[in-house]
Amino acid sequence: MIISLKGKTALVCGGSDGIGKASAIGLASAGARVILAARNEDKLIHAVESLPDVEGVSHGYMVMDLDDAVSVASAIEALIQKEETIHILINNAGGPPGGPITEAEADAFHKAFQRLLVSAQMITSAVFPGMKNAGFGRIINIISTSVKVPLHGLGVSNTIRGASGNWAKTWANETARYGITVNNVLPGATSTERLVSIIQAKAAKSGKTVEEITEEMKKEVPAGRFAKPEEVASAVVFLASEQAGYITGINIPVDGGRTPNL
Ligand SMILES: NC(=O)c1ccc[n+]([C@@H]2O[C@H](COP(=O)([O-])OP(=O)(O)OC[C@H]3O[C@@H](n4cnc5c(N)ncnc54)[C@H](OP(=O)(O)O)[C@@H]3O)[C@@H](O)[C@H]2O)c1
Repeated sequence: MIISLKGKTALVCGGSDGIGKASAIGLASAGARVILAARNEDKLIHAVESLPDVEGVSHGYMVMDLDDAVSVASAIEALIQKEETIHILINNAGGPPGGPITEAEADAFHKAFQRLLVSAQMITSAVFPGMKNAGFGRIINIISTSVKVPLHGLGVSNTIRGASGNWAKTWANETARYGITVNNVLPGATSTERLVSIIQAKAAKSGKTVEEITEEMKKEVPAGRFAKPEEVASAVVFLASEQAGYITGINIPVDGGRTPNL
């Protein structure tokens, strides 16, 4: 199967690092123009420079803080002013801090809800009319396998991920008739900065070494290893393709078999 995204523009939120960056590289390699969004401008510039420019396609970036509705609204306004159709939207950001739900502060839920759900709603609503006019849209949400089974020690994340799953399914139901698909990619443990910080936090809390925690986590994965960000990105690129046009409203775990149910 040859995937071509020539003529398509993708907005990749959280695109300057980790799974978002790998997805951006995958989409650009398939010929898409890519716009990255995140908070740190230096990292964004560096990430844009690392994107392949197939047949001279130019890429760009937007500084946007998904924790801040005002920042999201002003980035959206700037996007609308440019009158550029976004055909592919990747909703993605850093995950909420870990910890058991018994110790979670109420404010952590507000913050995670803003970052991972309210901002996604604002951005998706803004790009939806353009997708509808184009008769083509791909909305891909990077969530977590906790959509299917809550993960130990991630109380706030488990809660918000469940909401994001139903949010996406509702968007899928309402937009399929316009040639728009909405799907969720659920990464398992993936070798990114996020994973490093989770392992370090677990080590600090348990008194074990980083190596011990790493081995314990790998043992939970039937594949016996963590994912590479590029492996998660491959699912994103496929879902963004013309070929995936009849797949909507689903979750795709990319987790080496770790999720204990189908
Ligand atoms: N890695 C894993 O093992 C794993 C497993 C399951 C689920 N996930 C989920 O997958 C998603 C991506 O994870 P990752 O490992 O790729 O994370 P990562 O390596 O930490 O990258 C996060 C990206 O999001 C951006 N970002 C973070 N907070 C933001 C904010 N408030 N506004 C705008 N951009 C923001 C970061 O750039 P700036 O900091 O410059 O903004 C960066 O580009 C997360 O939701 C994570 O929970 C990851």
